[in-house]
Amino acid sequence: MTLTVPTRKPPTTTEPVFSVSGLWKVFGPKPERIPADPGLAALDPAELRARTGCTAAVRDVSFDVRKGEVFVVMGLSGSGKSTLVRCLTRLIEPTAGTISIDGEDVRAMDRTRLRELRRHRAAMVFQHFGLLPHRTVLDNVAYGLEIQGVGRSERRERAAEFVAKVGLEGMEKRRPAQLSGGQRQRVGLARALAVDPEVLLFDEPFSALDPLIRRDMQEEVARLHSEEGRTMVFITHDLSEALKLGDRIALMRDGRVVQLGTPEEIVGSPADDYVREFVRDVPREQVMTVGTAMRPASAAETAGGPAVRPEATVAEAIEAVARAGTPARVMDKGRCLGVVDSDALLGVVAGTAPADAAATAATDDAAAVAASGPAAGAAPVPEEAAPRRRGQAGPPGPRTSPEAV
Ligand SMILES: Nc1ncnc2c1ncn2[C@@H]1O[C@H](COP(=O)(O)OP(=O)(O)OP(=O)(O)O)[C@@H](O)[C@H]1O
Ligand SMILES: [Mg+2]
Repeated sequence: MTLTVPTRKPPTTTEPVFSVSGLWKVFGPKPERIPADPGLAALDPAELRARTGCTAAVRDVSFDVRKGEVFVVMGLSGSGKSTLVRCLTRLIEPTAGTISIDGEDVRAMDRTRLRELRRHRAAMVFQHFGLLPHRTVLDNVAYGLEIQGVGRSERRERAAEFVAKVGLEGMEKRRPAQLSGGQRQRVGLARALAVDPEVLLFDEPFSALDPLIRRDMQEEVARLHSEEGRTMVFITHDLSEALKLGDRIALMRDGRVVQLGTPEEIVGSPADDYVREFVRDVPREQVMTVGTAMRPASAAETAGGPAVRPEATVAEAIEAVARAGTPARVMDKGRCLGVVDSDALLGVVAGTAPADAAATAATDDAAAVAASGPAAGAAPVPEEAAPRRRGQAGPPGPRTSPEAV
């Protein structure tokens, strides 16, 4: 499996948009008894079904979606992804737990408020884009504005802007049947964007697209994220898509979130054997950042050699080290945080680097800066390896398993 994971910076805020706590969705007879009864709540899915006839699609799930992040929900078919995301706007009614958006209790919203939530604040982009076949591209994009009550000329003007934004300029008058699958998906995306929602919710939007168009759309999403800072919740069961787009990933199994973390945390420190197996074929060097391999720099090392940013991947650092033939300095705003050498970088590729190396490196890094004093802090940064930006994907690699799970 080859991955092109854009170098990412964590979102600068931890302010939650959605906040979910103790969420359950149980299908079947008398569903509320399951979360209320610790004995039933602890049953595995097969036992629960046998004893009660119920399916717990979402089991005691808690997480925040932070402002400006792409929050990916990943898991095998049937693990509860769609149910979870539909609960956020109560397209499916939760059985237990709390959900808030910007501090407002979603479960307490009346019908009017809920409609407002779905129309203005959290727009959903589905796999089968739900386009109106007899309407033009422009009118499909304007549809969300129409149901919001925006006047005709204003909505057409805004729709035209979003048609152009998703690269469909010149196709305004076509009907959905005259578009390719990828173009239709762009119309669906433009329609969701046109209502200017605070959060975009995507339920496997690209799974029906062929790989090249899919990559285009992934890049479009990454661009919207980096240029407009959109908050997104993105469901996928494709691991490479999750790693490429997600700031954080919630990995689901049988209705539970088994691990929630950055791509680097999930690949570098899998929470259990299930997650380990899940990420086994991921090229670690394309996901792990240099912090995993970093050690304190000696005085001589801080003075010269190639420089990489802290968010550079191990793969990028390997290239810099190989070209220079010396360790690379990890530089942040002119300060040398530490160095990475070929042995440590190869250790990450081989999976022999300690799982908690990133944490150790972070501690070492503070020590290194302290120990090397102001001279290191003032070290110049020659030819800093430019990190790739989100959405700027490299050449397509052969994917042995595009649908990794
Ligand atoms: N309306 C329903 N009634 C009963 N069971 C349901 C209902 N909807 C979903 N389920 C069950 O809940 C579980 C989770 O379903 P869900 O659709 O959330 O999975 P998913 O992770 O989105 O799967 P996929 O990747 O196939 O879309 C499954 O076992 C499913 O059979
Ligand atoms: Mg689904």
